[in-house]
Amino acid sequence: DFQKIKDGPNPGLRLFDPAYQNTAVCRSTICDIDGDRGILRYRGYPIEELAEKSTFLEVSYLLIYGELPTTAQLDMWTGQVMRHTFIHTRVQELMKSFNYDAHPMGMFISSVAAMSTFHPEANPALAGNDIYKNNVRVRNKQILRLMGKIPTVAASCYRHRIGRDFNAPRNDLSYTENFLYMMDHLSEKNYKPNPKLAKALDVLFILHADHELNCSTAAMRHIGSSLVDPYSAVAGAAAALYGPLHGGANEAVLRMLEDIGTVEKVSGFLEEVKQRKRKLMGFGHRVYKNYDPRAKIIRKIAYEVFEVCGKEPLIEVAIELEKRALADEFFTAKKLYPNVDFYSGLIYKAMGFPTDFFPVLFAIPRVAGWLAHWVESIDDKDAKIWRPRQVYTGEGRRAYVPVDARG
Ligand code: ACO
Repeated sequence: DFQKIKDGPNPGLRLFDPAYQNTAVCRSTICDIDGDRGILRYRGYPIEELAEKSTFLEVSYLLIYGELPTTAQLDMWTGQVMRHTFIHTRVQELMKSFNYDAHPMGMFISSVAAMSTFHPEANPALAGNDIYKNNVRVRNKQILRLMGKIPTVAASCYRHRIGRDFNAPRNDLSYTENFLYMMDHLSEKNYKPNPKLAKALDVLFILHADHELNCSTAAMRHIGSSLVDPYSAVAGAAAALYGPLHGGANEAVLRMLEDIGTVEKVSGFLEEVKQRKRKLMGFGHRVYKNYDPRAKIIRKIAYEVFEVCGKEPLIEVAIELEKRALADEFFTAKKLYPNVDFYSGLIYKAMGFPTDFFPVLFAIPRVAGWLAHWVESIDDKDAKIWRPRQVYTGEGRRAYVPVDARG
């Protein structure tokens, strides 16, 4: 639909595009998706190749700085990120004040938001509106802090939930090894996470690192367009990720699979979906109208993790659901295929992560993507504050009615 605008600063036709289904709001060179052919590339590199040959930290560098790092650049990047893993004791105290059963994602969002108050030099309100445009050093410092501290905040959310002390990060370990170490119950001095599990998590982090203008990345750009500091913008993006239609879907998928319980109950469940009483969580995507390429890779990782941790019995329910849905006209006609979240929850469950922690496992790697988009938007010469328009459908001018005169 179009609306004719006669007056105001932008007269002409205004496109009515609910939920931005067909609106491009920026130019970007970060992530390329061909939803019809099921293709995903970061900076031109196919996701399958990155998942097989790269590491999460290397991919983060690629996303944020545009090119794969040289050996020296990668060493420096890894060393600097790992040196920024400690969080302020006051942030820890804030985290300890949450209820013992607080949702980890709620703790995560609040703790990241709190981080902005510890770095006044990162606050454009104090340091100047153009601080990030003009001062690459200040910009890079916040990138390192966020990349380094996010896994520590995430692991601390988990430790608080289980009533244990926080584990200090260890920068002699890799990014994912250190994260698994900080999560660990025992925290032995010579603890070394299982390399197969650390590798599996690293690949999952690569797959979740970016996905162009998904709900949370659009939120990051939207909030960032007001020139707020990146901690506040990341907290806002994380809030967008929390919802069950986005990053909360991995948690919702597992609850759905637990609810179905057995392979025999799959057809009854699908009937309910077709009657629109239920939603098949982990299926469907705004952009993919074909198999999500990440879901294919994740299904393979699931079996690698099961070899170490034992098979998660709900995988049978998931496979049966997928098989039946892909053979059913209701789902094929709507082009509903498994998305990235359909199998990821099963892997996390097999690895021992609690179900409500799954969205946090999505948020950690997505921070790299959010930062890449934040950097790109700072350097965009056409950057302006984001401010969409609406089509007003309410009342015309009305006279105020005093309360005692209202029927
Ligand atoms: N189960 C059943 N029906 C579905 C599903 C589903 N998972 N997804 C879409 N549909 C149906 C809709 O009811 C609609 O049917 P209709 O045309 O007859 O009314 C049609 O398919 C189109 O769906 P929309 O909701 O219009 O698609 P949209 O692009 O707005 O939503 C979304 C995409 C939110 C991902 C949706 O498919 C969904 O809710 N999926 C389940 C939640 C999920 O897995 N989210 C994770 C997405 S991936 C990520 O964020 C990492």
